Amino acid sequence: MGRYQSPIRGERENAIVHHHYMERKCLKMPMKSDSIYLPVSEMPAQWYNVLPDLPTPVDPPLNPATKQPIGPEALSAIFPMALIEQEVSKERWIPIPDEVLEILSLWRPTPLIRATHWEAQLETPAKIFYKYEGTSPAGSHKPNTAVAQAYYNKKAGIKRLSTETGAGQWGSALSFACCKFGLQCTVYMVKISYQQKPYRRSLMHTWGAEVFASPTDRTNAGRAVLAKDPGCLGSLGIAISEAVEDAATHDGVNYSLGSVLNHVLLHQTVIGLETQKQLKMAGTTADVLIGCCGGGSNFGGLILPFIGEKLEGKPIRFLGVEPKACPSMTRGKFDYDFGDTAGMTPLLKMFTLGHNFVPAGIHAGGLRYHGMAPIISRLVADKIVEPVAVYQTDVFDAAVQFARTEGIVPAPESAHAILVARNEALRCKRENKPETIVFELSGHGFFDMGAYDAYFAGKLEDIEHEPET
Ligand SMILES: Cc1ncc(COP(=O)(O)O)c(C=O)c1O
Repeated sequence: MGRYQSPIRGERENAIVHHHYMERKCLKMPMKSDSIYLPVSEMPAQWYNVLPDLPTPVDPPLNPATKQPIGPEALSAIFPMALIEQEVSKERWIPIPDEVLEILSLWRPTPLIRATHWEAQLETPAKIFYKYEGTSPAGSHKPNTAVAQAYYNKKAGIKRLSTETGAGQWGSALSFACCKFGLQCTVYMVKISYQQKPYRRSLMHTWGAEVFASPTDRTNAGRAVLAKDPGCLGSLGIAISEAVEDAATHDGVNYSLGSVLNHVLLHQTVIGLETQKQLKMAGTTADVLIGCCGGGSNFGGLILPFIGEKLEGKPIRFLGVEPKACPSMTRGKFDYDFGDTAGMTPLLKMFTLGHNFVPAGIHAGGLRYHGMAPIISRLVADKIVEPVAVYQTDVFDAAVQFARTEGIVPAPESAHAILVARNEALRCKRENKPETIVFELSGHGFFDMGAYDAYFAGKLEDIEHEPET
């Protein structure tokens, strides 16, 4: 794979070398670090597209009226052509534009960290590594695709992007990316998160975005929901309907989605590609890869570059973790469904709880989505990905233990992966197996402290969704 030839490369690398040298000089002792950093020159210069390598192809999106596969023109009302092409591309490697790399290099490559303190507390023979995406300006993996999407929309002459946000992470990421490319940004934020996370809102305002609590009375989709249920706390499905309608009914405005679609997972593969290099630097290979799943983008970004190893017969496991309150992969149907509540999107073949499903107000707002990315759904159906569903009090128990040993306070979404990493580490202890467990820590939880307060006050409920059969 080619290397990123940034004009700033020399300076940056020198800075990194200098910084490490200074540290050694000051410490006057051999350095032992749990963090594995790649130099900026090792940033992936291409995204990995899994579509040509999938054992079973993903089913095409369908036009809801005709039930026939949709063509690119159907999507061009809300997406730029470059992203539509990426959505269906058969090219295994897609170059990352320099302008995108330049911005990603503000925080990438992100560290892969060995959780030695947590390993010691768990008394596990396993090695636990986590890929930490919380170092981005918005605090999660979401800017990896936000920057790329803003770039292609700017190039296509678009003036404003509209989007939805659950936990506020995606809205923040797109606000940041739009700000970098001089685009306006409108965010429909799920009402319960709007209330729970006022500072996410402030962050989006700081980057110049406008933010509305969804359902709003600005769109037909929002008004229809409010007419039936004025107290509705919203859902990602409803907020997507509002954002899509906004884009489809205004000139110069496109829609941007933070998860689910093939091009979003594509942009996130920088995570797994870096992880592969970092594991090599650590002298190990992954036995288990774990990520939380809302729409499937951080998990996809981590695991997709490793799919080849699995298909070659390596016994590597991929665990996708979801809340029991919104269990699309473990309790949903693998079927065609709308991506939004009002039925404005094409039909996607995915694991779904039904587009009308409004999940309970659990604190992992980014995991409250009725469906799952078609790529991840296909891998679940083909038994390449193992889905796991967990309760939120167990999630917070693991998050607090992790924060008290490793220091980082995780986002509630990411903590789903932490809980399952702990379960796996304890299994290794019982079976006395020194496996290498790698999980994605998709974001920090600094704007989620209300959720931690609720946990400490014993106010979190364990909600389990039982779909009708
Ligand atoms: C920190 C964090 N992790 C994970 C997710 C889930 O999204 P996805 O499954 O697309 O990675 C979100 C969504 O908002 C998030 O904010």
